[in-house]
Amino acid sequence: MLEELYNKYRPQNLDELYGNTVTIKALQKAIKNGSHTFLFSGPTGSGKTTTARIVASLVHCTEPHEINAANTRGIDDVRAILDDIQRGAGFLEESRVWIMDEAQQLTTDAANALLKVLEEPPEDLYFIICTTEPSKLLKTIRSRCVEFSFELLKDKDMLALLQDICQLEGYTISVEVLNTIIRIAEGHARKALTLLQAVSGLETQELQEQYLDTCGLGEDDVGFFELTQALYKETLWTTIIAGLNEMKTKNPEGFRKVIMAYGTTMILRGQVMKERHMQLMQYMKNPIYEWSNIVLAIYNWYHAPHINVSRI
Ligand SMILES: Nc1ncnc2c1ncn2[C@@H]1O[C@H](COP(=O)(O)OP(=O)(O)OP(=O)(O)O)[C@@H](O)[C@H]1O
Ligand SMILES: [Mg+2]
Repeated sequence: MLEELYNKYRPQNLDELYGNTVTIKALQKAIKNGSHTFLFSGPTGSGKTTTARIVASLVHCTEPHEINAANTRGIDDVRAILDDIQRGAGFLEESRVWIMDEAQQLTTDAANALLKVLEEPPEDLYFIICTTEPSKLLKTIRSRCVEFSFELLKDKDMLALLQDICQLEGYTISVEVLNTIIRIAEGHARKALTLLQAVSGLETQELQEQYLDTCGLGEDDVGFFELTQALYKETLWTTIIAGLNEMKTKNPEGFRKVIMAYGTTMILRGQVMKERHMQLMQYMKNPIYEWSNIVLAIYNWYHAPHINVSRI
């Protein structure tokens, strides 16, 4: 399986992060000053987890504990963490770091149980709390942490990130396409890198743009796009079945929208639509919420009698 670009190029040092310069400077200072409890707030894909892992390595912790409060959110979960903390105290040479994601999802009891350790953490213990919604955190938690707010990447930082990765990967992708990616990603680095990876697999700028047009509707699944292309090309039925099988756990409505968007883009670009293409769009024009219904519709379309335009 191909490694995701956003994992491959996850910054390992503070100076490898793009953007958020003021926040990073303040963070460096706080680490130097001996802060032990940090709160990282900011939208998804803005670098909170990445930065938390870097902080762990800066305070000499090789294996931070990562927990997600979306599924470790109750009082018993927090008690187990506190037990772990107590049991591990003083045994290890290196520092211990706990990174807690989506901390706004902790129950009130669970959050209250954390207060003491946040207020007086043992010498070797660091807590990094991450949240996409800081306003939902208990005030008492917030007041015990040094807070750093991560912002979405500015266009120029995103462009630099994308261009650097293109160079390292040997991609030649036009600035126009990169700018379209930046526009769609709206500052979310993870999303931008996912889109970059998708377009890097498409040969021509035209295809890349067609793909990005489709994503503009909010569907960024490369699998949907590839299968859609296969449909419009009327690829072998066995290939289409294989694609449908691969995607059967996905949202049929998302797939249908990609098929419609693809056709719409062809029309709006002034391409001459084949009768078969128009038929496909007809089959797909109403919402489809069941995967079996989309399979049925595609089967019917594929096996419907081909209209021979020259005979009409
Ligand atoms: N400032 C940045 N510079 C370079 N790459 C970044 C930056 N921020 C994020 N990335 C890229 O985006 C990916 C996702 O970032 P990260 O996991 O740190 O986001 P997050 O804020 O924790 O998001 P979430 O709230 O979804 O957990 C990283 O693996 C990295 O490739
Ligand atoms: Mg994260």
